[in-house]
Amino acid sequence: MVDPQLWISLNEVVNSGNKWGVLMYEYENTLRETARALVAPNKGILAADESFSTIEKRFKTIDVASTADSRRAYREILFTTSGSNEFISGVILFDETIRQTTSEGQAFTDVLLKQGIIPGIKVDKGTTPLPFSRGEKITEGLDGLRARLKEYRQLGARFAKWRAVLAIGEETPSRYCIHCNGHALGRYAALCQEEDLVPIVEPEVLMEGAHSIDRCEKETGKTLEAVFGALDESGLLLEGILLKPNMVLPGKDCTIQAHPEEVAEATLRCFLRHVPAAVPGVVFLSGGQSDVQATKNLNAMNALGKFPWELSFSFGRALQAPVLEAWQGESRNIEAAKKAFYHRASCNGAARSGSYNEAMEKEVA
Ligand code: 13P
Repeated sequence: MVDPQLWISLNEVVNSGNKWGVLMYEYENTLRETARALVAPNKGILAADESFSTIEKRFKTIDVASTADSRRAYREILFTTSGSNEFISGVILFDETIRQTTSEGQAFTDVLLKQGIIPGIKVDKGTTPLPFSRGEKITEGLDGLRARLKEYRQLGARFAKWRAVLAIGEETPSRYCIHCNGHALGRYAALCQEEDLVPIVEPEVLMEGAHSIDRCEKETGKTLEAVFGALDESGLLLEGILLKPNMVLPGKDCTIQAHPEEVAEATLRCFLRHVPAAVPGVVFLSGGQSDVQATKNLNAMNALGKFPWELSFSFGRALQAPVLEAWQGESRNIEAAKKAFYHRASCNGAARSGSYNEAMEKEVA
């Protein structure tokens, strides 16, 4: 039995910011609160921050042209689905979207805030080839970032996102690529905390390829180790970030696919080894899994019990695929599209506590 007095002093140390009990970080309290609010029970994040080229690709699948108007109309469906705030804590916006309004002229950020949903913003500028590498990528966007973050904060953002991409191949990801992307994530994340924005740190090890789940576990572990090394060097507050990683999965073309229980076991083994307990939450990306698969895998993780961090979602495709499918660019389908979004959000909300089951999928139609 732990001596209660010792327990109290341990808690004071953990919660005091640093060992002198002085607030080292100007925005420590709000960073901690925002990070925790984003991973509140039964809730997760909607990633609706597709760049112009990505949203164009998504719209092409339903034969809709990507224009400022069609993007606004589509995102208005996502942001005005009543009741979605039971399951959605925050939304990641794209630069265009944070400046847009609904068809009735209300700023999207206000629409979200009124529902208690926290607006966030994608701040990286996409990937470019890493020189002298085997086709690897580095994420750009550090130049001028401090000024952009200040503006986004004024526009209503309370958190930000930066995505790094690592591909598994015969000789990749290289140590150099992991190092460069880790360094950029560290610089980005510290700048965010300086401006009172919670950084979502996203190192994505891609699903593309025929690699095994074991190989994914190994490369994800190496990546997380380097990323947390870089975050530590940047001096930031770990309690004021969220990690947005891939789940540990076999490659899309691997002949042996994994059950949710195996995915959960491999992912958590990897994270318990490489993710500090001070991080309040892990918000998974879906990365090309089907919507139902992503929900099942998240559910299997939470069904295993309690971990040092909340295990939640920050899905793009896995929340939006059925919405696009229902919408088809037609205003007469808006209600059906909202229904599809509410349903997917509620399934993922249930997966936050391991209480999702397949019967929930039938409730929608
Ligand atoms: P997916 O869930 O579609 O992978 O998107 C999440 C995201 O934000 C990628 O940066």
